[in-house]
Amino acid sequence: MKSKISEIKVEIDQFEINSIEQLEHFRIKYLGSKGLTKELFSELKNVPNEQKKEIGQLLNQLRLDAETKFEETKKVLSSSKSEENKLDLTRPGEDHEIGSHHPLSLVKREIISIFSKIGYEVSEGPEIEDDWHNFSALNFPPEHPARDMQDTFFIEKGEKEIALRTHTSSVQVRVMENSKPPIRTISPGRVYRNEAISARAHCFFHQVEGLYIDKGVSFADLKQTLLYFAQEMFGEKAQIRLRPSYFPFTEPSAEVDISCTLCNGKGCNVCKYSGWLEILGCGMVDPNVLDACGIDSTIYTGFAFGMGVERIAQLKYRVTDLRLYSENDIRFLKQFKSGM
Ligand code: DAH
Repeated sequence: MKSKISEIKVEIDQFEINSIEQLEHFRIKYLGSKGLTKELFSELKNVPNEQKKEIGQLLNQLRLDAETKFEETKKVLSSSKSEENKLDLTRPGEDHEIGSHHPLSLVKREIISIFSKIGYEVSEGPEIEDDWHNFSALNFPPEHPARDMQDTFFIEKGEKEIALRTHTSSVQVRVMENSKPPIRTISPGRVYRNEAISARAHCFFHQVEGLYIDKGVSFADLKQTLLYFAQEMFGEKAQIRLRPSYFPFTEPSAEVDISCTLCNGKGCNVCKYSGWLEILGCGMVDPNVLDACGIDSTIYTGFAFGMGVERIAQLKYRVTDLRLYSENDIRFLKQFKSGM
C-alpha cells in the first residue's frame, strides 16, 4: 500500500497540465468520486490496524497534494487566458499613410473660401453644354472665332449644337436665368478646349467664374473686389493692375495682372521682367447678356470675372508645367499633404 501511494505521488507530481481539458482529466483521475485517491481510501479498511494511522496520514497528504496541484494549476491557466485577451494600449498604432489633396482642389477651395467671406455662393453647371449657354446668351456673334472647331470640342453639330463647355461663363447664364438679383455667385469647374497638350496649354483645365448683379454695381466695385481677392490669395502686399481688353459678354472688359509674387514687382524671369503676371479676365456684364438671361438691364448692372485655377496654382506653388496636374504622378501629388 505504501509503495502504491508513493507511486501515485510521483505520478501526480509529474502529471503535465497545459490546458483546461488536461486539468479536468487530472481532477477526474485523482480527485473524482471514482478517482484513485477515493479508491485508496476505500482500501484503507484492509490495512492492518497498527498501520492504519500511518497509511491514513499518507493518504491524506496525497489527496492534499493532488488538491493543491489542481488549484494552483487552475489559477495559472485562467490568468494566462485573460492575459491573451488583454489589450496592450501602449503598443504604437498602425501607420496609416495620410493622403493628400490635389493642388487644384486646394486652390479651388481657397478661392471659394475667400469669396464666401464676402457673401458669394457657389454654383455649378454641366460640362456638356448647348450653344445657348456657352456662346449665344453670352453675346458671341455667330461668326465669332471662339466657336470655331479649333477651340471647341463639339459633341453634336447642327441645329442644336452640343459641346464641352469652353469656359465656366456658361454657369453665369444658368444662374441668371434661374434667380433674381441680387446675385453673388462663383462657379468653379472644369472646361475643355481643343488644344495641343504642352507645358503651357492643355485640352482641359479649371476655371472659377464670378458674377455680381444688383442695382448700382460699378466698375469700382469690381476693382475693389479683385484687389481684396489678390491680397487674400497672395498676401497683403499684392497689387493689381487692369488692362483694357475685349470679351463678348462684358463691356467694358479688362485683363487683370497682379504684381509678380516672386520678385515683388521688381522683374524676374517668371514675369518676363515686367513685374506683373496676368491672372484673370473681367468686366461689366454686357446689357445684351443681362437681357438674354431675363434680367432687366435698365434696372440692374453687374460685373463678372473668370480665372484659371491652374494659373493661380502655378503662382502659388511654382508649378511651371501644366501637364503635371493631370498626370497623377504620386511624387508630385505627395508634396501637397498639408492644407485645407
Ligand atoms: N470666359 C473667359 C475665358 O474663358 C474668362 C472671363 C473673362 C470670364 C471675362 C468673365 C469675364 O466672366 O468677365 O477666357
